[in-house]
Amino acid sequence: MNTRTTRTTRPTRKTHHVRLRRTVIAVASSAAALSLSACSIVDSISGDGGSGSSSGPKKGNDITVGLLLPEKENTRYEKFDYPMIKKQVAAMTSNKGKVEYANAESDEGKQKTQIQQMISDKVDVILLDAVNSKTIASSVQAAKDAGIPVIAYDRLAEGPIDAYLSFDNDLVGEVQGRALLKALGKNTSSKKIVMMNGSPSDPNAAQFKQGALSELQGNVEIVKSYDTKDWKGENAAANMKKAISAVGLHNIDAVYAANDVLGGAVIDVLKDAGVTEIPPVTGQDAELDAVQRLVSGDQYMSVYKPYPDEAIAAAEMAVLRAQGRSIEFEALAGDTIDSPTNKDILYRMVPVVTLTKANVKDTVVKDGIYTVKQICTAKYAEDCVAAGLK
Ligand code: GAL
Repeated sequence: MNTRTTRTTRPTRKTHHVRLRRTVIAVASSAAALSLSACSIVDSISGDGGSGSSSGPKKGNDITVGLLLPEKENTRYEKFDYPMIKKQVAAMTSNKGKVEYANAESDEGKQKTQIQQMISDKVDVILLDAVNSKTIASSVQAAKDAGIPVIAYDRLAEGPIDAYLSFDNDLVGEVQGRALLKALGKNTSSKKIVMMNGSPSDPNAAQFKQGALSELQGNVEIVKSYDTKDWKGENAAANMKKAISAVGLHNIDAVYAANDVLGGAVIDVLKDAGVTEIPPVTGQDAELDAVQRLVSGDQYMSVYKPYPDEAIAAAEMAVLRAQGRSIEFEALAGDTIDSPTNKDILYRMVPVVTLTKANVKDTVVKDGIYTVKQICTAKYAEDCVAAGLK
């Protein structure tokens, strides 16, 4: 289990979130408390077939968890989320529990077919990371009608979900915005910023944007702002080219990019356009090439979302729910949240960490996400030495 001292803490919220209402119903809000409760729950259930719960387990270890992930654009899903969830399900079920996995590759229609397949296969529970949180609602209803509980993973799917767990998405946007202000130094009000936001079909993207705006609005001049269809780098690159022709290459002081794929595309466009000193560009997800850009100084920051924390919690929730251990299942959620269609959904929130050159070692390397060797290839050898990565 991860213990880390560099967690980003939530500042006093400046804006009231209009779409999502969150109510804290339990104390488990600090990273330490979350990690501890996760550890003790893993310990208490690992290897046992679900006995000992006062809520009366309905199934043993022979369960199937359906896992639906949204895309391959971003490496986290195939590299981290899927294998980590699979491993944790196995660990909790004496290797008897299975994960049936499907990736929708950014295609919402494909994801609906995949969920239908899982309903036909009679999986015991579904973990769903939606491509489109709205259009998936009818599939969530179909699963519920078939007696299969759906837990929304990372993105808040609409429809009758049983629970939701995700990183603190508002905080992601806030730390990105704050970092950008810090990078711009004093007298930021005349600084010109381009915003490259995430996919309009992903509710997290709206939260990232809102969190960032809560920091940036009034403090900088936002000269252009784009949403990026399907989180695709090529779409961000096209928008960045438009921004450059509209405002002029040398009139852009910083770029808010919602994730590393978009940040990378923006940086490439700036370089191709002849910029020698890249202005501060943000990101999210601690993608390997983004970590390398942090080290070399091309990218200013990213946001590390400790994947093991989210994946382990998701596997725990899925297994407990499949085994009918409702008291333990509910205990894993610390909050409740409303979606546009449903109220008081059990919600577990996982904190995030600001990632810069300075804490690469204490975060992604320490958590075993990447080795120094993977980051410090020949091209980055000198920068790595300078950044103290050995
Ligand atoms: C978000 C997710 C991010 C990133 C992004 C782009 O919903 O929270 O971690 O994966 O989608 O794919």
